Amino acid sequence: MAIIEHLVSPEGRADPYPLYELARQQSPVLPCGDGLVLVTGYREADRVLRDPAFGVRSAEQQPEVGRPPVAGPARELFARSVLETDAPDHTRVRSLIGSVFTARRVAALAPAVALAVDRLLDELAERGAGGTPVDFMDAFAFRLPVGVVCELLGVPEQDQHRFRGLATDLTAALELDAEPAELDAADLAAEELGDYFLTLAARRAADPRDDLVSDLVEVATADGRRLGGHELIANLVVLLVAGFETTTNLLGNALQLLFDHPEPLARLRAGRLAPGAVTEEVLRFDPPVQLTTRMVQGDGQRLGGVPVPAGTGVLLLLGAANRDPSRYPEPDRFDPDRFDPAHCGPAGPAGRPLSFGAGAHFCLGARLARLEADLALPALLDRFPALAPAAAPPRRERLVLRGYRAMPVRTV
Ligand code: HEM
Repeated sequence: MAIIEHLVSPEGRADPYPLYELARQQSPVLPCGDGLVLVTGYREADRVLRDPAFGVRSAEQQPEVGRPPVAGPARELFARSVLETDAPDHTRVRSLIGSVFTARRVAALAPAVALAVDRLLDELAERGAGGTPVDFMDAFAFRLPVGVVCELLGVPEQDQHRFRGLATDLTAALELDAEPAELDAADLAAEELGDYFLTLAARRAADPRDDLVSDLVEVATADGRRLGGHELIANLVVLLVAGFETTTNLLGNALQLLFDHPEPLARLRAGRLAPGAVTEEVLRFDPPVQLTTRMVQGDGQRLGGVPVPAGTGVLLLLGAANRDPSRYPEPDRFDPDRFDPAHCGPAGPAGRPLSFGAGAHFCLGARLARLEADLALPALLDRFPALAPAAAPPRRERLVLRGYRAMPVRTV
């Protein structure tokens, strides 16, 4: 348990990577009391994500970490969504969402994403004129993905400003050590977002459009056994929140890593480094989702040689698995070349990190998130040749969803 307490301490949250390494040196699957194991090995984490012997936990079964299990609107909302549902319900709902949230729909969004990038860069230029510091997180990293996912869902633009605070409040319920006050705020946010989508779903049922909310409402209205009303609302909220909260942090983590590594920054700016390789290395090196959980479903399982009885809670440290030296040589070096076919050497590009998960729950929005980052980062550097930090960026006080609270930059 001590290692988990260290991870959720202010120092652990600021830089969990040395703690991950310490845990891995003891064992890539480390029993840590209270029926929990901590997984830091890539191979072991990948297996857990893909093996149906490990299911997702329900709301009541969240790891306790010294506190009683919590229920309430926020936890219930996540438990009703695909994120925390096991087969067969997961297979049913996931395939319904997948049938409308298709690769083609994402590809068709590319021109709209490029346009949104340009518009936001114009605004950034205006706000940063004369060297005035601008908060990159608020002015760009939040606004791009929220605009894109709202376009996909069909959420009106004028409602978007409400979502950053609500998403921050709601996702506190995913942290291992949320305080009671944070859980209260998460519950209020869950209710407000749920009510919002109930109203929007009713509007789209009466007047369908070419958007994802209309498509999912149609399925739910036609046959409640394929998609129940509560499931519909929970999954719409999760699509919205998962759709921008994580991508916001990807963009912030990416810019800070580029500031810290001027050589890849210069090559990306000059078109001598593939944007996709930078995105992938940021995802590996400092992933926006640091951990997810599973629970052992049946008896007789072993993981990395460690017996894990039914009911064992598994904390999968994705950020640790991505730095497993047996998977990525020199894992603590930020090196986009490992993913760039033009620079990576005869062995070819490194395998994908676990930042979007793997197996049945593999991120539904991975393609969209990559598209946004691949378009946004080169355009940002191209537009502002003198882009530079204006002050040290404060981190968010979160372990699970890792990112910056603010990032003051100068554009000229
Ligand atoms: C950088 C951005 C993103 C990261 C790092 C990320 C990460 C993840 C991870 C790690 C999971 C798996 C969780 C688990 O196995 O327990 C996941 C699932 C999911 N993600 Fe993402 N995500 C991102 C962007 C998005 C976007 C843009 C959307 C939607 C528009 C989205 C929607 C979802 C959904 C619905 C699931 C649940 C899938 C399921 O349980 O079957 N994500 N994501």
